[in-house]
Amino acid sequence: MNPPKNKNLQRLSLEKKACKENEANENCKLILGDCLEKLKEIPDNSIDLVLTDPPYCNVFNVDWDRFNKNEFLDFMEKVVIESKRILKENGSIYIFGMLPIVKNISLIMDKYFIYQNWITWAKCRGRNTTNKFGSNREEILFYTKGDIPRTFHRQDTTIKRQYGGGDKRDYVLKGKTPREFVIATDVWTDIMEVGISPKEKSSGHPTQKPIKLINRIVSASSDKDNLILDPFMGSGTTGVAALKLQRKFIGIEINPEYFKIAERRINEWKNQTRL
Ligand SMILES: C[S@@+](CC[C@H](N)C(=O)[O-])C[C@H]1O[C@@H](n2cnc3c(N)ncnc32)[C@H](O)[C@@H]1O
Repeated sequence: MNPPKNKNLQRLSLEKKACKENEANENCKLILGDCLEKLKEIPDNSIDLVLTDPPYCNVFNVDWDRFNKNEFLDFMEKVVIESKRILKENGSIYIFGMLPIVKNISLIMDKYFIYQNWITWAKCRGRNTTNKFGSNREEILFYTKGDIPRTFHRQDTTIKRQYGGGDKRDYVLKGKTPREFVIATDVWTDIMEVGISPKEKSSGHPTQKPIKLINRIVSASSDKDNLILDPFMGSGTTGVAALKLQRKFIGIEINPEYFKIAERRINEWKNQTRL
């Protein structure tokens, strides 16, 4: 008996099962497999928003994050090219990444898309270092296919006011009454990581993103009934946010365990709404 062949067969039958189960659901299609292969099956100019959190490249000590840097960047360039093909004209694309490799990804994005924002999500917990400052940031690159985003709801990006560089009293002393909520800028300091926030527990995926973070992007950069794609779906956070906000969703994930977590989270959400 040849175990790798067996594993492949098992995977193929899981892929087939996932396809069948999803065929019936037109608002949400979850695909098990390698996004580079599966993206080829998505028609040109059919997606309103690509929102994705790919592997970080040797940041996390997990199999799916171990790469040779150049191979990783080649792979990401192929994903970016496919994303451009399937995005509608003026559609938006958001890609998460960590410093320093996100600098290289932004250079790839510059070749194919128009730059809009480099957003920094300032997290609560930092990564430890000994001879330099620790880092508690994650980057989100926002680009568009075409000059102007087809959708951007600035008014939906309000965040609780942050008193950057001072505190509330400084504003009051200046004779101003500070507003509680302001339009978000490109530094987001109001969202806690999953596992730290008492509001959101981990589903078992090591890098699950907070729903609040993904909601902000989905509400700003898409409309009701728009089609959102996440080619590195992980535990399905983008899918949950998309469906909550009445968008349609396609998610691709290569790892069968994570795929099941995503399916479970999305089905839990659907069952709740049926009550
Ligand atoms: C950073 S995680 C995404 C986490 C996700 N945002 C969440 O909230 O759960 C990246 C995911 O990409 C998946 N992945 C890695 N290579 C892939 C590929 N070629 N095709 C599809 N998924 C892949 C990994 O298994 C992992 O779950």
